[in-house]
Formats: sequence, structure tokens, C-alpha cells
Amino acid sequence: MFPERVVSGMRPTGALHLGHYHGALKNWVRLQDEYPCYFFVADWHALTTHYESTEVIEESIWEMVIDWLAAGVDPSQSVLFVQSRVPEHAELHLLLSMVTPLGWLERVPTYKDQQERLTDRDLATYGFLGYPLLQAADILIYRASHVPVGEDQVPHIELTREVARRFNHLFGREAGFEEKAREAIRKLGSKRARIYNQMRTAYQEQGDEQALERGRELLDQAQNISLGDRERLFGFLEGSRRIILAEPQALLTETSRMPGIDGQKMSKSYGNTIAMREDPASVEKKVRTMPTDPARVRRTDPGEPEKCPVWQLHLTYSDEGVRDWVQTGCRSAGIGCLECKQPVIDAILREQAQFRERAQPYIDDPHLVQNIIADGCDRARKMAGETMREVREAMGLLYD
Ligand code: TRP
Ligand code: SF4
Repeated sequence: MFPERVVSGMRPTGALHLGHYHGALKNWVRLQDEYPCYFFVADWHALTTHYESTEVIEESIWEMVIDWLAAGVDPSQSVLFVQSRVPEHAELHLLLSMVTPLGWLERVPTYKDQQERLTDRDLATYGFLGYPLLQAADILIYRASHVPVGEDQVPHIELTREVARRFNHLFGREAGFEEKAREAIRKLGSKRARIYNQMRTAYQEQGDEQALERGRELLDQAQNISLGDRERLFGFLEGSRRIILAEPQALLTETSRMPGIDGQKMSKSYGNTIAMREDPASVEKKVRTMPTDPARVRRTDPGEPEKCPVWQLHLTYSDEGVRDWVQTGCRSAGIGCLECKQPVIDAILREQAQFRERAQPYIDDPHLVQNIIADGCDRARKMAGETMREVREAMGLLYD
């Protein structure tokens, strides 16, 4: 109903690591060729857990944006901005909070999990409970069609969809809706109008999902209808409400698991990361001291790649030839572990050389990054402002 658009955010946690690159950023870089993309720094989300140490957030923002640019996120293709510079997110969050049942938020799995995991912090706050609703506002305010996220975030997208549905149900009502919808159908032209009506009947009387899909496609193709009519016709297809906020879909990032240098998942909280722009000598040392299959005590003991975290790195970094060499050499004790690690080290250093090269101009001139963000914030604010106007109108808050 609304044009396809990707929205995603990341909390500013300082310099990003290879897990961020292979788990998320690489995917962002690919998506920006396919869709208009909005990527933002979720600094308010960082506050929900780090309200006592706000001073680290600012520095982390710039570090993180430089890492995005280093990864190949292209500011001439994508809109890059900072959440708190688009205060409309907060307004939508507030308005959505009025209609979101408490139970929906209490049931989000990350709520209890995080409270149990992060025991060193007091997360019994209002803001922390509202974390996923703020995220819903981030997404809905741009009417995103797709949201690239990791698996742990899927319940947040599910909540976003439920909130959008509830909002449309409550506020998509308007006086004379049916007459306005019928009038809009006439504007489609007689052929399209006939098909629209057939599809609507097939969906509403027989639950025919394909008909619903065809009806939507027809509207996607229809030119010359106003946004208001479009919302009515999408809503009328399914029932008797306008669609003001669009339901997004999660785009799951499929990646091989990136192990940290201790073999666990790479994560800042485990202290086992390799930063995207880490010093080469340090990278080399970290990989060389990584644990391997414990069965290989001596050089002559055969090993099993499946039991070795270095193998996971080969899955990300090596081609088939190298992988075959590892499989055979490891199982026959034909190669040593240091030998096996070398192609991984080389590949990481090659990748990082690219990151450093792309980052350099921004390190030399921090104004460049500030300008990119200032420009992105303007564009984001414009779009967020348009949605908010409709949201206020639908809720009867225009008062003019
Ligand atoms: N909660 C997300 C995370 O921790 C970050 C985030 C905030 C986000 N707002 C978003 C992601 C909107 C996607 C869309 O990774
Ligand atoms: Fe791991 Fe390679 Fe050593 Fe085998 S040879 S245990 S895959 S590091």
C-alpha cells in the first residue's frame, strides 16, 4: 500500500565488531541496492539500559556511524540519522502507548530475559518496559515494509504489527467511510473498479487470500488516486477501516554464526570481539591464540573441524578450495592449527584494509560525518512529519 521501504536501527555501543558486520551491516549494504533504506542510531534505546552512563553514548554514535560507512553503507543511497534528532518518534511512541495493552509489553520475551540477564542494572523502569513500543514507533513512523533484524528481534516486529493493526482499527474509522470508499472506487476507472469489487467480495465472503493479494496489487498499480483514497481502498478491501500505519515484515538476516576469539558467540559482553577496524597485529595475535578442537593436543593428533571455532571462521571467510584443504588436513593431521588459521587471518586483514580505507576520510574530517547525519535527519524528519500529521488527524488531534 505504501512504497517498499527498509528501516533498521542499531544501538550505539561504540566500535562495531566483525559480528555486527557479518550479522547485520553486510546485509544493510546489500539492501540499499534494492530498497530505499533508512538506517538510524537508536540512542534513546541505548538510554533504556544505560541511563546512568549517558556520556558514553555520544562518542559511540560517531564511532558507530563511521563503522557503517566503513562497511560500505552509502549515504548517497541510504538515509542515515540519529533517532533523538527526530523527536516525532517520541510523539508517536507516546500516542501508541495510550492504546497498547500493558500485557502485550510484559509478554515480550526480551523484557523478562534481559531483566534476568543484566542483574547489575535496575531495569524495573517504565522506559525499559516501553523499549519494544519505541521500536514500533521507529518503524511505523516511516511506514516501513521491511525491517532487517536478528532472530531475537522478531517478537518486536510482531508487536509492531499488532500495534499497527490496533491503531488502524481504533482510528481508521471515519464518518461516511463507506460512501468515501465507494466514491474512491469510481475513481479507479470502470475496469479496475469491477475487478476491485470482485476481489473484495471474494476475500470478504470466502476468505480468499489470493483475491486480497490481487486487490492490493491492483491498488499498487493504480495511479492518480490520493493518499487518503488509497488508505481507504486498502482498508475497504479487508473491512471498514482506513489503513494509516502499515504492518512491516521482519527480514531475517541469515548468516553463519560468527564465533568470538574464545569460541562463544562474538559479543561485547563476553569480551571476545575483533573490532571492524582493529589493529592488524592485534587481529593476528587474537586469531593465533584462538582455541581449536581440544582433541588436537599434539600436532600429530587428528582433529574435527565441526568441533573447532576456527572452522566457523572458514565458513565465513574461505572459498571451497581452502575449506577442502582444512577438512582433509585437519582430519588427517596433515596441517597444523596455526597453518590452518593463516588463511583466515589473511582474509580478515584484507577485509579490514577495505574498512580502514573507507573510514579514513571521515576520521580525517569529522564534519563529513556530521553533515551526512544532519542531512539524513532532515530527510527523516520530513517523512516522519508527514506520517504524524495523518496520525494526529486520524486521532482527532489537529484542532484546526
Ligand atoms: N532493538 C534493536 C536492537 O537491539 C535496535 C532498534 C531500535 C531497531 N529501533 C529499531 C531495529 C527499529 C530495527 C527497527 O537491535
Ligand atoms: Fe581447527 Fe583448523 Fe586446527 Fe582443525 S586444523 S582443529 S579446523 S584450527
